[in-house]
Amino acid sequence: MNKEFITINSKQTKKLGEFLAQELRGGEIICLDGELGAGKTTFTQGLLKGLKIEGPYTSPTFLIMKQYQPHPSPLLIKERGIIRVYHFDAYRVGAQDILNLGFEEILSNPKNIIIIEWAKRIKEIIPADAIRIEFKWLGENKRKIIFKNK
Ligand SMILES: Nc1ncnc2c1ncn2[C@@H]1O[C@H](COP(=O)(O)OP(=O)(O)OP(=O)(O)O)[C@@H](O)[C@H]1O
Ligand SMILES: [Mg+2]
Repeated sequence: MNKEFITINSKQTKKLGEFLAQELRGGEIICLDGELGAGKTTFTQGLLKGLKIEGPYTSPTFLIMKQYQPHPSPLLIKERGIIRVYHFDAYRVGAQDILNLGFEEILSNPKNIIIIEWAKRIKEIIPADAIRIEFKWLGENKRKIIFKNK
């Protein structure tokens, strides 16, 4: 069964991201889908915070990919051995563009965590075991966030 959450402000959406961060051990791919402004980047900000990645976490929309360096003293990251977090935004690009950024090599390292906004646009290169989360706009401050069952 899918797990669904309703959030009524961006802080709650960030908190959900922080909760997910506690479950990650490295090697995960987190696919975020949903319309413009649905909360994918907001959720990612919480996720990065939960992973103890130092801010500011700007949207990668104009960059396609952003690589986050671990915090200088990242206790959590040390425990888990997470090397790097990669944040992709596929809104303006296709699968080949993402592949050209070294996607397969990033994917092959079990110490990497990959976050992809607009992942459905590049579904042909997303592994079947990816974590899939959908965002729905319900009102100005209200969003439905669905953790899809595999
Ligand atoms: N409950 C909520 N959850 C998340 N964001 C919310 C919520 N309520 C209001 N917002 C606002 O909605 C906007 C969500 O923008 P965000 O950049 O996270 O969306 P996005 O899905 O990444 O969009 P894009 O596809 O353009 O990248 C932010 O301005 C945020 O403050
Ligand atoms: Mg975004």
